[in-house]
Amino acid sequence: MNRVYIKTYGCQMNERDSEAVGAMLRGRGYSLVDNEHDADVVLLNTCSVRDQAEQKAIGKTGYLAKRKKTEPDFVLGIMGCMAQNRGTELVDKLPDLDLLVGTQKFHAIPDHLDNIIQTQKGLGPQPTTIVDLEEEEGSQNTIREHLSDDRQISAFVSIMQGCNMNCAFCIVPKTRGSERCRPIEEIVDEVEELAAKGTKEVTLLGQIVNSYGRREIPIRNKKSPFVQLLEKVQEVKGIERIRFTSPHPRGFKQDLVEAYRDLSKLCEYVHLPAQSGSNRMLKLMNRPYSRERYLEIVDGLRNAVPDMYFSTDIIVGFPGETDEEFEDTCSLFEEVAYDMAFIFKYSIRTGTPAASMGDQIPQEVKEARNHRLLDLLAKSSLARNESLIGTTQEVLIEGKAKRGELFQGKTRGYRNCLLPASDRLVGEIVQMKVNRATQSSLYGDLILSGIEEADTATLSNSH
Ligand code: SAH
Ligand code: F3S
Repeated sequence: MNRVYIKTYGCQMNERDSEAVGAMLRGRGYSLVDNEHDADVVLLNTCSVRDQAEQKAIGKTGYLAKRKKTEPDFVLGIMGCMAQNRGTELVDKLPDLDLLVGTQKFHAIPDHLDNIIQTQKGLGPQPTTIVDLEEEEGSQNTIREHLSDDRQISAFVSIMQGCNMNCAFCIVPKTRGSERCRPIEEIVDEVEELAAKGTKEVTLLGQIVNSYGRREIPIRNKKSPFVQLLEKVQEVKGIERIRFTSPHPRGFKQDLVEAYRDLSKLCEYVHLPAQSGSNRMLKLMNRPYSRERYLEIVDGLRNAVPDMYFSTDIIVGFPGETDEEFEDTCSLFEEVAYDMAFIFKYSIRTGTPAASMGDQIPQEVKEARNHRLLDLLAKSSLARNESLIGTTQEVLIEGKAKRGELFQGKTRGYRNCLLPASDRLVGEIVQMKVNRATQSSLYGDLILSGIEEADTATLSNSH
């Protein structure tokens, strides 16, 4: 049997795509392995958001291609965003590639691999690189299979593909194409199937989730299609927690704010990319909102749900960013007191409008700004965690911690928790009393539920 290893770079969307490809391959009789050394086929699912991510994948391909000298049947493929972004230029650079598959053709991978393997057996035409980068109508509907033999306590569900915004720095509209959504019923079916297999938490994924269905699905009772979808997922029995990523500040309307208040399963955590705290930068970035509007959304959410948690994406060193404009981002950071943030040093993406803007910022300035924000984040994140000491938190236990004897889980606010527990509690929601906090984790003890307490009481009474 052919053993496949899929290595994933980049975001949750990529992880989800890799999982779906893995599930399709298993369905075709391939087996999946968790490292490249045991694999006869290695597929790299790539990211193009920053140059560094592309360079890493190119480096890895070059390294893996050497195996072909000693193992002529070894199969090597690149799929996803970098395949789409760079196209056949990659084949010129990496002639040993067997397969190059774009972001709308993931579902074609099993056929392509079958063909490559037949060819190796001498049953097909001369081997060349198979290149499949076309757009395909309906391809968003093909990312639906999960690796069913492993119970997924928390699962990703892809609700749409593509992005119609044109942020001046971003390659994603090129790599992922324009917005295409899946029908509500199909998404709900998928969530129901996951719930039936024991999934407790779903994270709905899209490049810009609050645009979901805006052209296809009418507004009902003043609710956007995305909020209608959230309401349907809320009804799925067995699902206890709902998350999504990422919404855009544009189109973050009152119905979505109220969903956080009204939908009990929607966790009080939002990843709301700001990119910058400076209005001039936002304008140059082609982000259609102001700092003031962003803060209005944050306030609206805090009013609706007082213990809301906030996360963001920030780019430092966008062309022309002055010290003062960077200070505006720092003050936004302090004002929101983010619990989590992804801070990116601006990376030139050929073909995007920002690539040809003058006044590129020197690398060392980007580094310094990056550090400054990481320091601010460390402070606000630690302060938030320390404020939770003594409280009781609802924790979904995900499994054993990587090291030591403790178990690991998450609060509704996406804080990482470490606590003594047992295998029986994996996949369960428990109450944890927080007694210690670091920047990244909360430590605590289980609070026994009513039934367990009663059991313990009976035990001690009988002594
Ligand atoms: N809306 C998408 C965003 C995808 S890109 C989502 O669902 O997450 C993820 C983040 O990468 C962006 O929010 C932005 O902060 C960062 N990014 C995008 N292009 C970049 C570039 N050229 N340089 C540095 N960071 C970039
Ligand atoms: Fe990229 Fe902006 Fe869309 S960051 S994914 S173009 S919302």
